[in-house]
Amino acid sequence: MKVPMVDLKGQYQALKAEIDDALLGALAETRFILGPNVQEFEREAADYLGVAHAIGCANGTDALHLALLGAGIGPGDEVITSPFTFIATAEAIRYVGATPVFVDIRSDSFNLDPELIEAALSKRTRAILPVHLFGQPADMDEIMSLAAARDLLVIEDCAQSFGSRYRGRATGAIGAAGAFSFFPSKNLGCYGDGGMVTCNDDEIGARIRMLRNHGSSRQYYHDVIGYNSRLDELQAVILRIKLGHIDEYNRRRNAVARGYNERLASSGITTPSIPEDRDHVFHQYTLLLDERDAHREAILAHEVACAIYYPVPLHRQQAFADFDQPELPVAEACAERCLSLPIFPEMTEQQIDLVCEAVLGAA
Ligand SMILES: Cc1ncc(COP(=O)(O)O)c(C=O)c1O
Repeated sequence: MKVPMVDLKGQYQALKAEIDDALLGALAETRFILGPNVQEFEREAADYLGVAHAIGCANGTDALHLALLGAGIGPGDEVITSPFTFIATAEAIRYVGATPVFVDIRSDSFNLDPELIEAALSKRTRAILPVHLFGQPADMDEIMSLAAARDLLVIEDCAQSFGSRYRGRATGAIGAAGAFSFFPSKNLGCYGDGGMVTCNDDEIGARIRMLRNHGSSRQYYHDVIGYNSRLDELQAVILRIKLGHIDEYNRRRNAVARGYNERLASSGITTPSIPEDRDHVFHQYTLLLDERDAHREAILAHEVACAIYYPVPLHRQQAFADFDQPELPVAEACAERCLSLPIFPEMTEQQIDLVCEAVLGAA
């Protein structure tokens, strides 16, 4: 491929000396479980995001699971969420015994359409779980006021949105809890699996901290049945270094997105909107195309990567076939028309040109 979807090697090379040195230091220290780097990263991430608590855990799926458990969501509860997301969002709802209720999305943001939430509420609804998909914050004012009026909790899926802001506030700092993934290709990615839960409530924070470490807040004393879901010390070393660069990474992702939008402006292709009131961090740059599959083939033939996120919305997945699922026409149409282009902070102008030539050549 002349242009890959992401280039993790380029980013590592730029930080190699610092990362290698810090990893060797942590190896020499040998405090591998909930060691000093995990503790420092949790403090630094909480400061960066403006939250009281940031609790590292094993991955983003666990972060969602722990956030739901910490907020007290359980069997019999319904949780409103998006069908246009990675399956982990709704898997976590099932893990706690609750039922995901899928509500359709807006095609201009790929995020939950707040105007459709009301009609999906029932006596069992306990929470709304918006996903800040592709790095763009969901409509949080509308979601938060709807939740406040109905006494519902809001849990944010921030797996793709580290560093994004909605009207000045970081995603993950707005609802009752936020769940982050540090999967290697995420905006803030480590070199394996990693995740984190954020919240402001001390009680929820203490519960999550306990749950991620075998239900224990004092060694060998276990208040509840918990999990082994701790952020790895070596991953925390890498995350601390990369956290110092996250604003620059996100700024460069925005520059790539603007470069694409400019070059594709007169093509008639639907390009992502960049709203004024929120900071999109472009985890993905996603087009909507008629004849998407033909475009995809043609772009790949130019040796330019592209990918479909997501080909099947969750309400159409076999895993959720045991519930009656509604028709969600916007999510279904997006699944048929979406195509994501390469985007990563190290992209050059020449690579942006190559991608756009392939897209325009395919049109
Ligand atoms: C929207 C969304 N939620 C949750 C997750 C789960 O994160 P992880 O892969 O770290 O478990 C992902 C990551 O792939 C994601 O994209």
